[in-house]
Amino acid sequence: MAMELKNLLVIDDEAPILEMLEMSLASEGYHVLTAESGSHGLQVFKQHRPKLVLTDIKMPEMDGIEVLKRIKTMDRDTEVIVITGHGDMDSAISAIRHGASDFITKPIRDEILMLALERAKEKVRIHQQLRDYTENLEEKIEVCKVELKRAEAELIKNERLASIGETVAGLAHYIKNILTGLRGGMYMVNRGMAGDKPKMLQDGWAMVQRNIEKVSQLVLDLLQYSKDRVPERSMCRPNDIARDAMDLFQEKAGLHGIVLKAFFDEGLEEAYTDQEALYRVLLNLISNAIDACIFDPDTGKAWEVVLRTTLEEQNGQGRLVFEVSDNGTGMTDEVKAKLFSRFFSTKGGQGTGLGLLVTQKIIKELGGEISVDSTEGQGTTFTVRLDLQTPADHAPGVDER
Ligand SMILES: Nc1ncnc2c1ncn2[C@@H]1O[C@H](COP(=O)(O)OP(=O)(O)O)[C@@H](O)[C@H]1O
Ligand SMILES: [Mg+2]
Repeated sequence: MAMELKNLLVIDDEAPILEMLEMSLASEGYHVLTAESGSHGLQVFKQHRPKLVLTDIKMPEMDGIEVLKRIKTMDRDTEVIVITGHGDMDSAISAIRHGASDFITKPIRDEILMLALERAKEKVRIHQQLRDYTENLEEKIEVCKVELKRAEAELIKNERLASIGETVAGLAHYIKNILTGLRGGMYMVNRGMAGDKPKMLQDGWAMVQRNIEKVSQLVLDLLQYSKDRVPERSMCRPNDIARDAMDLFQEKAGLHGIVLKAFFDEGLEEAYTDQEALYRVLLNLISNAIDACIFDPDTGKAWEVVLRTTLEEQNGQGRLVFEVSDNGTGMTDEVKAKLFSRFFSTKGGQGTGLGLLVTQKIIKELGGEISVDSTEGQGTTFTVRLDLQTPADHAPGVDER
């Protein structure tokens, strides 16, 4: 028997009955508290807080119903058994209405009293379990919350570690290919010099240069990706940035029979933007467009990559639009869905999956938008939109959006 279920308060104004009850209950293992009146009973109750109370109904001053009511308001979970006179059904019903757990009639028979007490104890236990359960529930929820937070932090950390792991694996592959290219180029340069073969020397040197360019682009992308940077804006000419980016690919495009075309909006004069960052964006988009042609199995096509700039007007706000289109491989829906996810590349050792990641990051930092339209087997267009800002938009106190 749980400690508190041993305590039992018995209230009866008739001393002999009280004594008799005390004896038989004590012999059953109860720790019996007694009171000879309702008010005394309440005092004992307040002091000891027994979970079980047995009270006579008919008592002078305060009757058992009143005792029952008061106890119930003090502690709803206390079980009160009332003792009624023989045939006093009205009192019994009234007691039950007021929350008595049971009633027994005089003369009291021990087995019936014990049975009633067992039932009352069962009720107390159920109440207690319910309370423990809900209390624990709150505790458990707290524990869960803490655990969840920890797991979340762990997950983020793991994700970052995994992404670093993935990157390292991907980059190692990519860099190994560059090294192979460099070695090949150097070999050709050496052979060309030793055998006095100018053509071989020239090709070898071009190969070395291309691979050095690849490494430097990779390093720049990595730096762009790893740093949180605030755009370094200045007044610059978007068409010139586009021209410079395009020029860098003339040779490579020519080598693969890809025609580069430029359509620059002459109305687009100046923009207050981050020249270097924008240049990186265009390099990445053009490089992907060229790759899409190079990887295109449909050799019947006349491949072209088109770079277009446009000055767009919307609600009085000028917008700078760059479009990079190709008629290369296009993308499947699956590729489209993963496009901007971390280090996603379909190019094996020829790609890092960093390009679009960096591109997206830069556009976000510049407060612009990038969208893509692509049809598998037909080609792709990437569109970048940026507000045509002025230094006034970035005067102190104006937020970078
Ligand atoms: N113009 C495009 N045409 C077809 N697929 C593209 C194009 N641009 C990007 N992709 C796809 O998106 C992937 C991710 O591009 P990117 O982030 O630049 O990484 P990487 O070029 O190193 O593979 C590419 O591997 C390719 O599958
Ligand atoms: Mg790329």
